[in-house]
Amino acid sequence: PMVRELFGLSDLEAALRKRFGLKQAVVVPGDSDVSEEAKRELGRAGSKVLRRVIGPGDVVAVMGGTTMARMASQFSVPSPLRDNWFVPARGGLGESVDYQANTIASELAKRTGARYRMLHVPDHLSEDAYQTIMQEPNVREVVDMIRSARIVVHGIGDASAMARRRKLDAGTVQEILRDGALAEAFGYYFDREGAVVHRMATAGLRLEDIEAAESVIGIAGGRSKGEAIAAVMRFGHDDVLVTDEAAAEEALKHA
Ligand code: G3H
Repeated sequence: PMVRELFGLSDLEAALRKRFGLKQAVVVPGDSDVSEEAKRELGRAGSKVLRRVIGPGDVVAVMGGTTMARMASQFSVPSPLRDNWFVPARGGLGESVDYQANTIASELAKRTGARYRMLHVPDHLSEDAYQTIMQEPNVREVVDMIRSARIVVHGIGDASAMARRRKLDAGTVQEILRDGALAEAFGYYFDREGAVVHRMATAGLRLEDIEAAESVIGIAGGRSKGEAIAAVMRFGHDDVLVTDEAAAEEALKHA
């Protein structure tokens, strides 16, 4: 309550920008953990940011999750995006169909008249399987497109919640938590300093592709995600953070 009195939303936005070196921060009122309305507003704010950033010919790589799904379901454009592409940032991460990156890419394309490609490849592959699958011309073509994305839009999750939701095997979960994983984004796990713990071969975006993307937009809210958001912002490759009041307050405490 103290923080609420001291800081308005625009003060929180300025504090996030400054603390995490962002080009832009957008904070919606409330706490998505407990308010459906806050989560809807978060999705709406995310869709507005993305609409402004997309330029002619851009390829947009999107991650999955419930927040990304809220963003996608509220996305609209005044005129069709005929020369844009939406692609999933990663292969299947073991999410339910509604929240998979493939589903979100196709919904965004359908809502905007843009084109899309699917990546029908599980994300967790052995090195051998990865090498084999990447030799498939269809897969290769989509992967090259994903890795060339100018814009990346992603959610942020709590590491243990995401590891469980994605049904990582118990050994791997133990290992990443032991290594200090606190946050999950882009299919990677991060510790509190924003260092990546647990890397693996992926048919999707690699860390270097995220670093090379011109516009990386993170959308995540809810007080429970504050610490995870701070960790991913420390990784330091996001340009824009769209969040809610509760998560912003919490992220700044961990900044
Ligand atoms: O990477 C993070 C997760 O996709 C976030 O999922 O939006 O359902 O919390 P969520």
